[in-house]
Amino acid sequence: DLGGYPHYMAKEIQEQPESVERIIRGRLDDRFGVARLDGLNLTPRELRGFSRVKILGCGSAYYAGQVGATMIEELARIPADAEAASEFRYRNPIIEADTLYIAVSQSGETIDTAFAVEEIKRKGGRVVGLVNVVGSTIARACDGGVYLHAGPEIAVASTKALTNMAIGFALIALALGRVRDLSNADGQRIIDALRAMPGQIKSILDEGPRIAEHAKEFATANSLFFVGRVRGYPVAREGAQKFKEISYRHAEAYQTSELKHGPLALIDAALPTVAIVPADELTDRNLAAVQQIKARGGAVLAVTHEDVDFGELDVPRIVVPKTEPELDPILLTIPLQLLAYHAALSLGYDIDKPRNLAKSVTVE
Ligand code: BG6
Repeated sequence: DLGGYPHYMAKEIQEQPESVERIIRGRLDDRFGVARLDGLNLTPRELRGFSRVKILGCGSAYYAGQVGATMIEELARIPADAEAASEFRYRNPIIEADTLYIAVSQSGETIDTAFAVEEIKRKGGRVVGLVNVVGSTIARACDGGVYLHAGPEIAVASTKALTNMAIGFALIALALGRVRDLSNADGQRIIDALRAMPGQIKSILDEGPRIAEHAKEFATANSLFFVGRVRGYPVAREGAQKFKEISYRHAEAYQTSELKHGPLALIDAALPTVAIVPADELTDRNLAAVQQIKARGGAVLAVTHEDVDFGELDVPRIVVPKTEPELDPILLTIPLQLLAYHAALSLGYDIDKPRNLAKSVTVE
């Protein structure tokens, strides 16, 4: 049921304030500044025992995993990384007893991710799921998990499930952090920020018509860059992925820091860049990169915060509300969903069912 929306993707983007409410409901503990995640089936002692986190997923879920890995490193100070489950399962991975494996999947049926889980379990590892569909194959195969409660997602391009994946990682990071060195006050800081998020998302969605204008311009380019660094890099990857999936434009994500080591050679008037420029400790470095792109004739659209001072740089901006720095990627991603949606809309493509893609890939 489209409920009056022209596409499922539009509906699912607009549902995000409510779906975010659902994933945090009943899970935020103000007394101890922690997340209550009973479904993980891990005792505080077990949570303390992990010295590494490895996140596995495919496509957009893999990029959400990258967002999650950075959050876990920042909040819990445990080495964490994300890997494409489709690669992991084929490379005879080394499974360690003190690593917490996290499988992330909207459908819970993606075969590459399901096989990665199987491989971990076969070799005696501990794996929990961050899954949307209750009772799905991956949810059942894991030792425990956190359901995303995003509600049914129909459009091939994942939006609300992805946002809840990132929030699910914030909850796991809180649980891992609070049995380590993360203070109650810092835990509370994240909890308060999570509670404010549905309202902040609403305010980004209200910017839809303005974002649609930018999208129309970008849709005419045959090729574009999405750049971000550290927290912003998985945001850029997800932005490029969405653009590719539904607008059929060549969109390439790059670490902003790596531009000068090669891809800057491609920049000209025909190759625009979407730059993730948050107000954080890397703002000046990001602005310097924007300046370098502009100096080579490249158009830039910045996804940024109010406080960022672009000075003389003449750059159109999409401004998102500031949250706690560790959570910035969640809000920075939302305008990129709208950008891809409106680009595909202006090009007249089948938004909910892009060519060559399936909602979940369940066969080899
Ligand atoms: C891909 C879909 O094949 O599977 C992507 O086209 C999706 O949109 C990916 O992100 C992973 O799916 P899931 O269900 O495991 O999150």
